Amino acid sequence: MAYQLPDLPYAYDALEPHISRQTLEFHHDKHHAKYVDNFNQMSEEAGMGNKSLEEVILASWDNPDLQKLHNNAAQAWNHTFYWNCMSPNQGKPSGELADKIQSDLGGMEQFESSFKSAATGQFGSGYAWLVLDKGSLKVVNTPNAVNPIVYNQFPLLTMDVWEHAYYLDYQNGRAKYAEAFMNDLVNWDYVAQQLNYAKQPV
Ligand code: FE2
Repeated sequence: MAYQLPDLPYAYDALEPHISRQTLEFHHDKHHAKYVDNFNQMSEEAGMGNKSLEEVILASWDNPDLQKLHNNAAQAWNHTFYWNCMSPNQGKPSGELADKIQSDLGGMEQFESSFKSAATGQFGSGYAWLVLDKGSLKVVNTPNAVNPIVYNQFPLLTMDVWEHAYYLDYQNGRAKYAEAFMNDLVNWDYVAQQLNYAKQPV
């Protein structure tokens, strides 16, 4: 069954002034939609049309013959996750998430600094992530479409640092976009949900 492009979890103008309606219209309706279309077509052609996005991401990882399928599957997944990682009502980390940020990452200030460095330090296109790795929180970045699940890391938060995510609003100012993302956009309830989900036995 073909994967459906999910709607944004908020209105196109809900993240203004930090991310504009125009950016979200292009990013969701053009870029994300194209990745989903490509995934559906390529997974069908590869005989993997009945597999989930995660299954295809893992099965196609590090396989040169399936590189394009891998990239489009990961981009379809990453964008859905990225939309959910943002909210006009960001809240704050609390409970176990706040405790782990303190114990694993040295506290909120240190985490914010590490995350922004991961975002600005990723050369070219890619993502900054907060992941759960063997029970501990880590801040990492990945190039292009790479999703940390291929390294057995569980994604809790991501920031898309491809230029299409911020160029209309910040031009080359990725650091300003990272600042806005961290200060005004992170959906902390969603991150906490992912942490709970990550801890469930499989
Ligand atoms: Fe993107």
